Amino acid sequence: MVQLTPAELQEVNRFLDAGKPLPDKYRFLLFEDKREVELVWNGKTNEVTNAVLPFQVIEQVDEPRAEVDTRLQMSMFDVDERGRQLKGWQNKLIWGDNKLILSSLKNGPLREEIDRQGGIKLIYIDPPFDVGANFSMDIEIGEDTFTKRPNILEEIAYRDTWGFGADSFIAMIYERLLLMRDLLATDGVIYVHCDWRVSAYMRLVLDEVFGKDKFRNEIVWHYANTGLKARSKKFHQVTDTIFVYSKSHDFTFNHLFKERKDGQSKQAKRKFNSVTKKADMVRDEHGKIVYEIREEVLENSLWETGSMSNSPERIGYPTQKPEALLEKVILASSNEGNLVADFFSGSGTLAAVAEKLGRKWIVSDLGKFSIHTTRKRMISVQRELKADGKDFRAFEILNLGKYERQHYIGVNENLRLDEKQKQVEAREQEFVLLILNAYKADIAAGFKTFQGKKSGRLVAVGPVNVPVSRLFVEEIILECRQKHITKVDILGFEFEMGLFPNVLDDARSKGIDISPKHIPAEVFDKRAVDKGQVVFHDVAAIEVKPVVKKNSIAIELTDFSVFYSQDSVSEAEATLKDKGSKIIVEKGQIVKVSKDQDGIVTREQLTKVWTDWIDYWAVDFNFENKREIIRVKNEASGEWEEIWTGDYIFENEWQSFRTKRDRSLELTSVALECPTGTRKVAVKVVDIFGNDTMTIVEVTIGGKK
Ligand SMILES: C[S@@+](CC[C@H](N)C(=O)[O-])C[C@H]1O[C@@H](n2cnc3c(N)ncnc32)[C@H](O)[C@@H]1O
Repeated sequence: MVQLTPAELQEVNRFLDAGKPLPDKYRFLLFEDKREVELVWNGKTNEVTNAVLPFQVIEQVDEPRAEVDTRLQMSMFDVDERGRQLKGWQNKLIWGDNKLILSSLKNGPLREEIDRQGGIKLIYIDPPFDVGANFSMDIEIGEDTFTKRPNILEEIAYRDTWGFGADSFIAMIYERLLLMRDLLATDGVIYVHCDWRVSAYMRLVLDEVFGKDKFRNEIVWHYANTGLKARSKKFHQVTDTIFVYSKSHDFTFNHLFKERKDGQSKQAKRKFNSVTKKADMVRDEHGKIVYEIREEVLENSLWETGSMSNSPERIGYPTQKPEALLEKVILASSNEGNLVADFFSGSGTLAAVAEKLGRKWIVSDLGKFSIHTTRKRMISVQRELKADGKDFRAFEILNLGKYERQHYIGVNENLRLDEKQKQVEAREQEFVLLILNAYKADIAAGFKTFQGKKSGRLVAVGPVNVPVSRLFVEEIILECRQKHITKVDILGFEFEMGLFPNVLDDARSKGIDISPKHIPAEVFDKRAVDKGQVVFHDVAAIEVKPVVKKNSIAIELTDFSVFYSQDSVSEAEATLKDKGSKIIVEKGQIVKVSKDQDGIVTREQLTKVWTDWIDYWAVDFNFENKREIIRVKNEASGEWEEIWTGDYIFENEWQSFRTKRDRSLELTSVALECPTGTRKVAVKVVDIFGNDTMTIVEVTIGGKK
């Protein structure tokens, strides 16, 4: 360490005594120099979370294989009598924040399964680097487009990422890259996609995480489509950057070829000389150079695959990347059967290409809309591959299970443990009071799971930053049973996928009436609360009719209601400018409010029938067929144990959905032959916002139970 002068020592002491931060110059005088160039940002730390939360499988999707292709599939894995994959790796589509997903994959029981597949050989990520984007989604309703704002959970996550501009983006990506590096196989490679906004920072961060000597390429993706552009005082930006790093010096690299542009196809033939390590020209027995006709050249670091605009591949996800781009990434850096991953998956482009190229995959995203878009996309890929007589794997949709609040609440990480705990408690208390006030409930004391009461019902407020989980509801049921409570409201911003209706039925069978209600975003708007404009709407409801004939069951969808609100008609009418229009959602109806040049207001209801709300629906003809098993660590023995969670996995056996091109929807499922007896049929509906709701009906075939 550099020797400090007496004056400097005195200065340091003065600052420490006053409890003030030291001036910047001491950073370089007091600490060892380890790096030549280093990127520093506010709050930089290399602490990485090691939280392990259990994954919960909520759905399995597998296009049934016909008998003919069942034989074809045998080489890959066993299938059951319905043609569904029984064993072997199942691809994974995970909903949640990738920080906890990465850390749970790295440190939890799934790691073993990943290692059994040879580890993750390739990671591609395309994080959201558009500082200031508001992450809204455009949703089509007939001829109109409605802009859906992110829900509160998505908003909190995006604010954490972008709240402080580039600083918070770099802090976010740094921790995730450290986790990805640890999760990547020793011979793995990572591709990081970014643009001019963050590429300079990203390169330095990647150098630090993977090591400068592991840098492989800076690929420039040229996506421009020519045509007239508005003239501004800068050149039109037509490229993105993709950085490639390997984890070690041993990694897969397959050369790619592309068509020659120059038309010169006659070239001297060359052969690799293992002694000189050069490509020598080949000569014939007379010493003459041998020529060959070559229509292809080696691919280089300038990738010209064109943009997504007007591409038939487009599925309505704003940041969707072309499959041709991902094809190059996957072909160059993995082989058939390898496991590849994308933790910022968006519309699921990596998963779609990986499936088509025979790779196994894990993808994740924070947005429900992204998970739903990918689900539909992957079903279409399975159908396409099946039609072509090719292999495909089943995939499962997973939630991160039991959530721990402190991982989510944004407390000051620099506080000591007890201070941190106090801050968490104070924030939670503040949040609960805010919600109870908006719900017009009174405070109730002396309960473990309830904080309020209203009209003879106890009120439980779900967490601010994660969906209401099954565990949360189970604790409520437990307290109800202990204290003979029979009427309960649960308020939540989001409810875990697949939570209803099983948990409500379970409660009802114990004499407890639970009513789950969505907390609207307006609770944070004091004026709306004061004016009493905040509506806590019920979760969506599905009505179905089983059609039983002799020994077959079909399901008819007969009604679906949602109760969402975003903005209000009266406010739109008051604030709209002449000749303007706005689409709003009020109590489950989508309405277009327009003003003409004379200020005359018209309202047009865009959702005319209940089916307009439905984007997708699916049937599991025997819901209690597949138990949900999770692996948990036995703290005493240290061993991983398999336990049944008490729930079942929804097996997606039949589905109908709208696509960008085909907006039609079937309302009656296929009729499936079933043995006599009673079974539970589950029906899942995903609405146009990407939220899912499930209902279960008991059906008896053959007249007796
Ligand atoms: C640029 S898009 C990816 C687009 C994708 N490459 C495609 O082809 O569709 C980035 C995605 O990252 C997701 N995201 C942002 N923060 C996240 C987080 N913390 N965890 C998981 N996903 C996140 C966003 O929801 C968004 O879908």
